[in-house]
Amino acid sequence: MKFFIDTADIDAIAEIKAMGMCDGVTTNPSLMAKAGRQDTDALLREICDLVEGPVSGEVVATEAAEMIEEGKRLAKISEHMVVKIPTTYEGLKAIAALSREEIPVNATLVFSPSQALLVAKAGAAYCSPFVGRLDDISHDGMDLIEQVVTIYTNYDLDTEVLVASIRHPGHVVEAALMGADVGTMPPKVIQQLVQHPLTDRGLAAFLADWDRLQGR
Ligand code: E4P
Repeated sequence: MKFFIDTADIDAIAEIKAMGMCDGVTTNPSLMAKAGRQDTDALLREICDLVEGPVSGEVVATEAAEMIEEGKRLAKISEHMVVKIPTTYEGLKAIAALSREEIPVNATLVFSPSQALLVAKAGAAYCSPFVGRLDDISHDGMDLIEQVVTIYTNYDLDTEVLVASIRHPGHVVEAALMGADVGTMPPKVIQQLVQHPLTDRGLAAFLADWDRLQGR
């Protein structure tokens, strides 16, 4: 399972990369706003150079023709760029057009199995179902992942299932058990994944025993 980092914070990405846990990055307009840089293309280029893997940058246009134009501009930033397109009626046209030109597309804001089927048929490289936002409205987000994995397996579709809106380590473990291709998560979740109280307790006991042996 690939781990993408869901942030535009370059220092946070560098930190996770040092742990060997950064296979790619996803951004969105809200994350770009949080990073607070006006030179968004330059920031995306810096992220691409650092990660040397797929980096999603999202279009803000809402009509197909403008989405396609914006997507082509984003794709020119780096060979690592993936163009993120919202899963709307107009978005599907843009996904199909950019995919035909072999520009990798991440279809975002996917909330139903039917949307997932459509974006795969349109040729998206990645399909991003949002689990946390479904949980927020009392739907089980992970049920959607199970459905999408089943559909893509049934028809041997190439689109990768990119589990998005991950909020806690449980989402990551469930996604891995279901065979999702990628999980994109905030840096905090990656840090939480490594923590275990028995590891901390065990290490404290080992170090205390070592100190006793040294006569300290
Ligand atoms: C995915 O690509 C999105 O940027 C992200 O996962 C959204 O997460 P959120 O629902 O926590 O904002």
